[in-house]
Amino acid sequence: MRMYFAPMEGITDAIFRQVFQARFGGIDKYFMPFVSPSSSLSYTVRQDFELSPEQNRGLFAVPQILARDPLCFLGAARGFADSGYPEVNLNLGCPSGTVTGKGKGSAMLKDPDALRRFLDQVYGNTPLPVSIKTRIGFDEPEEWEKLLPVFSTYPIHELIIHPRTRSQIYRGTPWYHAFEQALAALKCPLVYNGDLFTAKRVQEVQDAYPHIRGLMLGRGLLSNPAVLREVEGGAPLTKEDLISFHDDLFRAYWNTWHPLTAVGRMHVFLKYFAHSLDVPFKYVREALRANKPEEYLDAAGEMFARAAIAENPRYVQPE
Ligand SMILES: Cc1cc2nc3c(=O)[nH]c(=O)nc-3n(C[C@H](O)[C@H](O)[C@H](O)COP(=O)(O)O)c2cc1C
Repeated sequence: MRMYFAPMEGITDAIFRQVFQARFGGIDKYFMPFVSPSSSLSYTVRQDFELSPEQNRGLFAVPQILARDPLCFLGAARGFADSGYPEVNLNLGCPSGTVTGKGKGSAMLKDPDALRRFLDQVYGNTPLPVSIKTRIGFDEPEEWEKLLPVFSTYPIHELIIHPRTRSQIYRGTPWYHAFEQALAALKCPLVYNGDLFTAKRVQEVQDAYPHIRGLMLGRGLLSNPAVLREVEGGAPLTKEDLISFHDDLFRAYWNTWHPLTAVGRMHVFLKYFAHSLDVPFKYVREALRANKPEEYLDAAGEMFARAAIAENPRYVQPE
């Protein structure tokens, strides 16, 4: 079964992907955080960097497009085809209010007829295979029954399902039943995504759905980057793994970005790593408060020195 790294805006950027691949690997595809192309199809300098094939060399990286205008989607897809990308992904899952307020992301699930009109254009004209990452509805899981016939109409390269509604954001339990409805109703390759936080859970879901194309992991891999190594029979996560990963990430960001930006990004990772560490929170807080690189490195070093690996290192969902 294939293993995919979930796209996470502001986190799983090109530098992160390269460092993860070098240190842990085991990922068949990295889905890139979304770009929302304007009608002029111009990208910022940062987006150009992220999307450039050089920065993604050696990885199977899939650009993700957030668009409600099929012409914007197709223009962006043509650009990615020209750059040599083999496929693109359509974002139908983003729950953020700034995105749904513009009718994009998960807001496109609200009106199945409008979604059909959009997908008619996309699948009728795309230069590349198009996979879709979706939720199961906007407000209610019952919406899924109206969305399944829409998805069954198109040659979807892979359908990645996060079986929550938009209104759940990431709260509550995924609707496994909705995923099973998709298994029964759809012929396209399916990928399960959501709350795969431990090797045990990954194995359970593999056993429950042995014929699906793959699994996609996000927060689980950020808090325990060795989850898939463990699934393959390798060693569970150690404190040394996290320290080396942390140091590689810091060095890579420091070499590329402004030092304050590099530290800001490390704060994001540290919050995820902290889930897998047994350490008094005051040491994490100190590291999160340190903004200057030297102060940050001292505080993070102190935090790691005081920490032990948690008994069951994993992402812990907030209540
Ligand atoms: C901070 C953050 C940023 C995210 N950015 C994206 C994104 O750019 N595109 C996307 O399709 N999903 C995005 N997601 C959703 C994840 O790809 C994934 O579906 C979600 O985290 C659930 O999977 P998990 O339980 O394995 O983390 C984001 C999630 C988080 C928490």
